[in-house]
Amino acid sequence: MKGIILAGGSGSRLYPLTKVASKQLQPVYDKPMIYYPLTTLIENGVNEFCLISTPMDIPIFRQLLGNGNQWGTSFEYMEQQKPEGIAQAFLIAERFIGKGSVALILGDNIFYGADGFNLAFSEFGDGASIFGYHVNDPERYGVVEFDSRGKAISIEEKPKSPKSNYAVPGLYLYDNKVVSIAKNLKPSSRGELEITDVNMTYLNNSELKVYKLSRGFAWLDAGTSSSLHDASAYVQTIEKRQGIKIGCPEEAAFRAGFLSSAGLEKIIGKLPNCEYRTYLEEVLNETRR
Ligand code: DAU
Repeated sequence: MKGIILAGGSGSRLYPLTKVASKQLQPVYDKPMIYYPLTTLIENGVNEFCLISTPMDIPIFRQLLGNGNQWGTSFEYMEQQKPEGIAQAFLIAERFIGKGSVALILGDNIFYGADGFNLAFSEFGDGASIFGYHVNDPERYGVVEFDSRGKAISIEEKPKSPKSNYAVPGLYLYDNKVVSIAKNLKPSSRGELEITDVNMTYLNNSELKVYKLSRGFAWLDAGTSSSLHDASAYVQTIEKRQGIKIGCPEEAAFRAGFLSSAGLEKIIGKLPNCEYRTYLEEVLNETRR
């Protein structure tokens, strides 16, 4: 499955930080934000990526990630001229998607925990698969309602009176029909092609699967100054306690088999002396013990 990372938007809530670099390039503790969703997709077997961002920010993403070959992956970059909705990603990336299925992840969504998405990726055949995550403030998100047997029956975008506490996080798996579905969408009252309308189309066609994410799984929001700070603190706490890194694409590519030991060694050789380098050396050495 191919992967789209949507990393545009106006970033207005993080102003003035976003005057110099987009939201998804801001640090979350010890790495740029984009590393986290990128790692999530790599961990789930994706190695062909299209990154969509603003014309201003694409050169910086290119500098950061290159063509992806260093990690045994590939990257294409595509521009979104204006933030006209998450579902516009499928129109922009139509050629990239080609004839297969595609995963879309939002560049400001941070996930952490074992087995969160593995089943959904491995079982994916056709239709669409999305996730439900219990939150305290569902009115800020797409909200999915379940019937008594746990079947999804409605999805609403930022409802004033949410029908459940299950928010839909920014990771979505679609079959190839998503392109034609996106082409038939009308902009919402906020002037955007809504991802919730895409999901509703699949739901109405009985082709939507919703996986509930477990309690032990973390989904962090990094969209405001305060939640960005909280996300950094969370990552720091886990990394210090466990001696592992969250959101390390080199490690994920290595463990997924995209990157060989020799390839990882080559990357390490080019890094300056820093904590990140020491960590990757440990990852490599661990497999040689
Ligand atoms: O985070 C999950 C939520 O993301 C979902 O629960 C909602 O259903 C979905 O609509 C979306 O909610 P928001 O409206 O809060 O998303 P936001 O406008 O903040 O955009 C999410 C990310 O996507 C953000 O990093 C900017 C980027 N983006 C957004 C739009 C609308 C783009 O790159 N281009 C766009 O046109």
